[in-house]
Amino acid sequence: MGALRTFPVSTVVDGRRVIVAGGGEAADAKLRLLAKTSAAVEIYSPAPEAVLTARAEGAGYPVHRRDPEEADFAGAALAFIGTEDEATDIALAERARAAGVTVNVVDRPDLCDVLTPAIVDRAPVTIAISTEGSAPVLAGILRARIEEILTPGLGTLARLAGDLRAQVAALLPPGAKRLSFWRAYFSGAETAGAVARGEADVRRAAVRLLEAERNGEEKAGFVWLVGAGPGAADLLTLRARNVLAEADVVVFDSLVDQGVMEVVRRDARRIDVGKRKGRAPVSQAKINAILVAEAQAGHAVVRLKAGDPMVYGRAGEEIAALRDAGIAHAVVPGITAALGAAAETATPLTHREHASSLIFATGHAAPGEESIDWAALARSDATVSLYMAKTVADQVAGSLMAHGLTADTPVGAVENACRPVQRRFFGTLADLPRLSGRGDLAGPVVIFVGRAVAEGDWANAEPFATSETLAA
Ligand SMILES: C[S@@+](CC[C@H](N)C(=O)[O-])C[C@H]1O[C@@H](n2cnc3c(N)ncnc32)[C@H](O)[C@@H]1O
Repeated sequence: MGALRTFPVSTVVDGRRVIVAGGGEAADAKLRLLAKTSAAVEIYSPAPEAVLTARAEGAGYPVHRRDPEEADFAGAALAFIGTEDEATDIALAERARAAGVTVNVVDRPDLCDVLTPAIVDRAPVTIAISTEGSAPVLAGILRARIEEILTPGLGTLARLAGDLRAQVAALLPPGAKRLSFWRAYFSGAETAGAVARGEADVRRAAVRLLEAERNGEEKAGFVWLVGAGPGAADLLTLRARNVLAEADVVVFDSLVDQGVMEVVRRDARRIDVGKRKGRAPVSQAKINAILVAEAQAGHAVVRLKAGDPMVYGRAGEEIAALRDAGIAHAVVPGITAALGAAAETATPLTHREHASSLIFATGHAAPGEESIDWAALARSDATVSLYMAKTVADQVAGSLMAHGLTADTPVGAVENACRPVQRRFFGTLADLPRLSGRGDLAGPVVIFVGRAVAEGDWANAEPFATSETLAA
């Protein structure tokens, strides 16, 4: 490992003069960053561009229509030089240095006293990424990745933490209790929920946490019902990622992909309630009871379901159980299988000419559930997305045709949508029954029926029948 050629420090600019020399894009890029600070910025340029003057005006910065003299630099905290003319840049950098000011010259690391890093701004939290000027594009890529994992509310939490510090120090002794409060404050479900509602709510949540910690109360549990999406971990929402990274306990289904489970906090307890070969399925009543018991024990619980929790996910029963037990809960949506499969096959589920509605339906009703209204599904102006229909594809096709859909209605099916081993199938309603006879499809399958389906990209799709199913 080579030695660092630069040392990261944060310069205090609050209320201090910062000089920007230049009137074009380079200077404007610096101005954009400086406008986020409380520095007293001054701009010097004989011919500033309109974008720059507008920005300066908006921020209330003076624009001097000339180059800066040595006396102009005197006493400034920093000088940024970006005139886009090499000779002028060098001359102005010398002037600034003669005035004893720290200088940054745009795109000339050899002329710089300080380099500007890529910045993630969650004021008062700033994350600076420096490559010592050797790979600014990489710095930009890293910045984008860090932006993704930090919630927008982080700055609010950090700022209010500054206000709360004295109160916390007065009420909680240093050590475990104080630490526990700050952990709950920065990563607990209560403040995470409050931050979206505004500062007043965050303050209230913080005071509640403080009181609870002071009185030695048990922490209140919380349940998030989280959509894991159809498979690929990069299809998780940012909120789902953040919640998974904080959970104490994750209760998950068999369809949740391993890649998604990698996002879960390393030391979180994982409870597998999915259907697995060789073991009795965990009943819905038992799952409800687990969620209630874990939350009552004060844990932050994630109920992780494939796709979206509110689509064929039995979320309704779980929410009712949580409500009955008085347990705070919230839902984080996920990409449902049909939308994942539509994206993978570029299939428009609605279409101006072919489908004015989209129907989510299931292939078979479980005992005790409402029976399926096939007449309502057999609509020539809709796309029907069928879940859990693989093994009953023959009955589905028969029922839809019996209720008026023609045998040549286009049908597409995707097994393992958004997963590495995905397969796709395409044919007509007359071909669909062949799918139910196939023994080679172990993964979950979503089926699309309707005229819009033919608009998708089914170029490499297999037929529904295999030579065996045809012979059968
Ligand atoms: C119990 S439902 C869960 C649906 C889930 N909540 C959702 O929003 O996607 C299970 C059915 O979802 C569909 N499914 C789930 N993941 C899938 C995937 N990656 N590819 C294709 N179908 C999938 C299949 O129809 C499967 O039988």
